[in-house]
Amino acid sequence: MSQLIEVLTKDGSYSLRSAFFQENFHSLFGALEETKSKFTATSNLQRFKGKSLNVLDICFGLGYNSASLLDELIKQKSYLNLYALEIDKKPLEYSLRNESFLKLWAPKVRTIFESLYRKDYFEDQFFKCSVLWGDAREKIKIIPSSIKFDLIYLDGFSPQKCPELWTIEFLSKVTENLNSQGYLITYSSSAAVRKTLRNLGLEIFTIKPSFKNRTFWSQGTVAISKFDKNELKSNFNFEKLSLMEEEHLFTKAGIPYRDQNLNSSKDDIIKQRLKEQSLSNLEPTKKWREKWKMTKLSVKS
Ligand SMILES: C[S@@+](CC[C@H](N)C(=O)[O-])C[C@H]1O[C@@H](n2cnc3c(N)ncnc32)[C@H](O)[C@@H]1O
Repeated sequence: MSQLIEVLTKDGSYSLRSAFFQENFHSLFGALEETKSKFTATSNLQRFKGKSLNVLDICFGLGYNSASLLDELIKQKSYLNLYALEIDKKPLEYSLRNESFLKLWAPKVRTIFESLYRKDYFEDQFFKCSVLWGDAREKIKIIPSSIKFDLIYLDGFSPQKCPELWTIEFLSKVTENLNSQGYLITYSSSAAVRKTLRNLGLEIFTIKPSFKNRTFWSQGTVAISKFDKNELKSNFNFEKLSLMEEEHLFTKAGIPYRDQNLNSSKDDIIKQRLKEQSLSNLEPTKKWREKWKMTKLSVKS
C-alpha cells in the first residue's frame, strides 16, 4: 500500500504522493498552506485558550494537521486529548527524517511525534496523544463513545480514490463522537459528503476560498451539530453554502457512498454508487455545471 514519492510543494513545504492511491497528500500549492488555511484557521482555536479540548485527526499521514494544532496549542497553553487514526506508519517515519518539516514547529512537536512513532503514545502535563494504527473503519470503534470531540479533522484521500472513508456508515460512526458544539472539518466540498453530513443532522458550512473563481469556490466543509447561524462571525473562516453549492447537493453528485458493514472494497463502494446514480431521477451534475459555468475540474465529486 505504501509506495510513497516525495513532493516539494509551491510554498516550499514537503509532502508525499501515494502510488497506490494515485493521489498527492496535499495540494501542490502548499502542504503547510493547506493545513493552515483549511484546518488550523477554521478551528477557531482561540476558543480553547487555557482550556482543554478533545481532537480526532483522521488520516494523520505526515502529521501536518496535528503538528500545526499542537504548535498553536503550545503557544496558548491549552490542554489536549488527541486521537489520530492512520493505516500506514511510513508517512510519520518520513516526517521524522525530514528536518525541514520538523523545523516548521516548536521542538516539542518532534518529541511528541517521536513518541507516537515508538510508543503510539505521548503524555505530559498538557497533552495526551495516541495514534491508532490500522484501518480507520476498524479503529474508530475502539474510541470510547464517552469521548466527545471538539474538533474532528477528516483528511483522507478524495472520495473517488478512497471512498471507504466518506460513506454514510463511516461518517455516521465518526459524528457520533462529535461534541454538540464541535467542528468536523474536511478539505472536501464533494456534494456526496456534504449531503451525507447534512442527512446525519449536522449544519454544514463552506470554508471560504482565499480567492473565489470557477475553479476555487470552496476550500472544504465544516459540519457542526448544534450551531446557531446567527453566531457566524465575519472573521470566521467558514460561511453558509452559496446557492450554487446548495443546488450541487440536489444533483446526482449528491448521491452518497455506502459501506453497509464498514468492510466493503473501494471498487464495490464505487460500483454501488454508480448503479444508484444511473437509477436516480436527480438532475445530472453536468446540467448544474453548465448552469453555473463550471469546468469538470472545478468539482470534486
Ligand atoms: C491525504 S493523506 C493525509 C494527509 C495528512 N493529514 C498529512 O498531514 O500528511 C491520506 C492518508 O490516509 C491514510 N489512509 C488511507 N486509507 C486509510 C484507512 N482506511 N484508514 C486510515 N488511514 C488511511 C493514508 O495512509 C494517508 O496517510
